Amino acid sequence: MKKGLFITFEGADGCGKSTQMELLFEYFKKQGREVVITREPGCEGLGEKIREILLNYDGEVSDRCESFLFMADRAQNIDVIVNPAVQAGKIVLCDRHTDSSIAYQGYGRGISIEKIKHLNELAVNGRKPDLTFVFDIDVETSMKRVGKEKDRMENSGIDFYNRVRNGYLEIAKQEPNRVKVLDASKSIEEIHLEVLKIIEKILSL
Ligand code: TYD
Repeated sequence: MKKGLFITFEGADGCGKSTQMELLFEYFKKQGREVVITREPGCEGLGEKIREILLNYDGEVSDRCESFLFMADRAQNIDVIVNPAVQAGKIVLCDRHTDSSIAYQGYGRGISIEKIKHLNELAVNGRKPDLTFVFDIDVETSMKRVGKEKDRMENSGIDFYNRVRNGYLEIAKQEPNRVKVLDASKSIEEIHLEVLKIIEKILSL
């Protein structure tokens, strides 16, 4: 059986990570690998409901409550989708994961990074990404790509998104082996080739 892999895609809203994830999905399928796609928030049935609250609830949501909701969805994603697939030797591509909580709830909202890391540990129960891509983009471009129709998170403001961006770069500095930062202002094709270069290196190890 082939070794399972867990790869996560991170970056600010509008960075293009979902497009890159789709391209990598197609690449792996062509290689004959079994590959599964998931996302946070909103991994499957229950996750969809949590996602709906997180993105669209228009009453007050405390920062701590928000953090726990992301974590609840994460635990479900790990238990129901990620672990069974990786254990069966599949490749799992996940649109956002633990680093989103560190960047958004930690650096963005200002909750202690240590506390968020602790919650992440509880949510993932030992599962860690083998590789993480961070698609780095300046806040102005990312907000332009998001457009006028913003969800609850996307309405958090420019300063918030600057902190999120710096948060991601800080995470990458701390874990250079796992986290690879790519310049998301390049063309889709250029970025895809950079993703493949990193993937081919990892698969050859
Ligand atoms: P989504 O539509 O998935 O954003 P995108 O298409 O840009 O990936 O919405 C997810 C939103 O939730 C996004 O604004 C980031 C935020 N988020 C957190 O704040 N913390 C988290 O732990 C996760 C997983 C997402």
